[in-house]
Amino acid sequence: MSRWKAKHDKEHYYKLAKKQNYRSRASYKLKQLDKKYSLLKPDYNVVDLGAAPGGWSQVVAETIGEEGKGQIISVDLEYIKPIDHEAYTGVKGDFTTKETQDIIIELIDGKADVVLSDAAPKLTGIKDIDNFRAYDLSMAVIEIIDNILKNNGNLIMKAFQGETYQEIIKNLKKKFRNVKTTKPNSSRKRSAEMYVIARGFRGSKK
Ligand SMILES: C[S@@+](CC[C@H](N)C(=O)[O-])C[C@H]1O[C@@H](n2cnc3c(N)ncnc32)[C@H](O)[C@@H]1O
Repeated sequence: MSRWKAKHDKEHYYKLAKKQNYRSRASYKLKQLDKKYSLLKPDYNVVDLGAAPGGWSQVVAETIGEEGKGQIISVDLEYIKPIDHEAYTGVKGDFTTKETQDIIIELIDGKADVVLSDAAPKLTGIKDIDNFRAYDLSMAVIEIIDNILKNNGNLIMKAFQGETYQEIIKNLKKKFRNVKTTKPNSSRKRSAEMYVIARGFRGSKK
């Protein structure tokens, strides 16, 4: 893809997000993933890890709608401007810590039907460090689901292609019955990010 086309696509989703009142271009990634894989339902309990500024959470809130019985718990290191929906709860914290995980567990009614993670570390520009941090974050998500995801629940997670990518997929395959990777149109072609759709959580061994 040409640089021009990549820039054009980025601007296209940026403008669309502005027009349709989404907080980030990222909303379209979840919309496209949901369209393809039917991941969200109005009565699902959803935990959104690395949720700021809240684009994915907006899409979940829309799915829950006015009648749905679902719940959305959105977690980020950064403050998330609250989403105007009674199903929404925001948590400011580091989801890799026990303290924040305990808060999530306490808030969620039972366990989550779906865990979303679009989390990404702050980039340093030093490739090895960035790769290592992204890997660490992915592995933290894979561990956390033991505490917060229902048996047979689903995980939708961003992962970066690179040396450790296959290791992440391998770990997910141990925990889920079905693991697919995909790249929605709204994800920049040049970016190494992929999305993993992991369905049918085998359940915690703890
Ligand atoms: C690409 S943004 C998420 C965009 C979001 N999905 C949306 O639609 O608006 C990645 C987020 O991951 C968060 N993050 C990274 N590490 C985290 C951690 N350990 N705990 C909580 N949030 C984290 C960052 O603060 C950042 O806001």
